[in-house]
Amino acid sequence: MILLSVVNINKSMPEFIPVLSKEEIDRSIDDLASRISDDYQGRDLVLIGILKGAFIFMADLLRRLYVPARVDFLRVSSYGSGTSSGKIRLTKELETDINGSDVLIVEDIVDTGLTLKYLIDYLKAFHPGSVKVCSLINKHENRKKNVKIDYFCHDIEEGFLVGYGLDYNENYRNLPDIYHLKI
Ligand code: IMP
Ligand code: MG
Repeated sequence: MILLSVVNINKSMPEFIPVLSKEEIDRSIDDLASRISDDYQGRDLVLIGILKGAFIFMADLLRRLYVPARVDFLRVSSYGSGTSSGKIRLTKELETDINGSDVLIVEDIVDTGLTLKYLIDYLKAFHPGSVKVCSLINKHENRKKNVKIDYFCHDIEEGFLVGYGLDYNENYRNLPDIYHLKI
């Protein structure tokens, strides 16, 4: 709370409603990492984190896996200041050979599903052995594409979330907990 008041000094005060605590996030990533480790034993796993939002989740998930995994990142720009434009542009290309490998896309949050659909199509062109999706949060209110989210930590019905890597206008990524931001 001290952190939040420092961030908002001299600005109109948005409201932060707690949604997920650091402890809840930690516990859910522990569970998820064991499931993924069990499922990918003996496979050639490549985690592909989607920048920027997924970088904190990616680091925490990777450190809990007990199977080998290579790592790469893609970056897409699709959002202005918090609302979906539906226009997706890749701003960082893949740098790892994934031909025949088992790719796991690591996202912070899936909202409309448009980004994910674009990314799955992009990655399939490199002929991976498999492509699955892992997201910290599965948010339902705006879903437009019916994409399968193979692994997720938390189901959230609605609201714009910040913290733990999730931003609003590049702010609040550093918050350890996740909040529903009400402007
Ligand atoms: P989608 O293409 O609509 O599924 O949007 C996916 C991307 O939009 C996510 O990877 C986030 O970067 C961003 N996004 C969607 N919802 C939120 C939110 O509630 N808070 C912060 N970023 C969000
Ligand atoms: Mg993202």
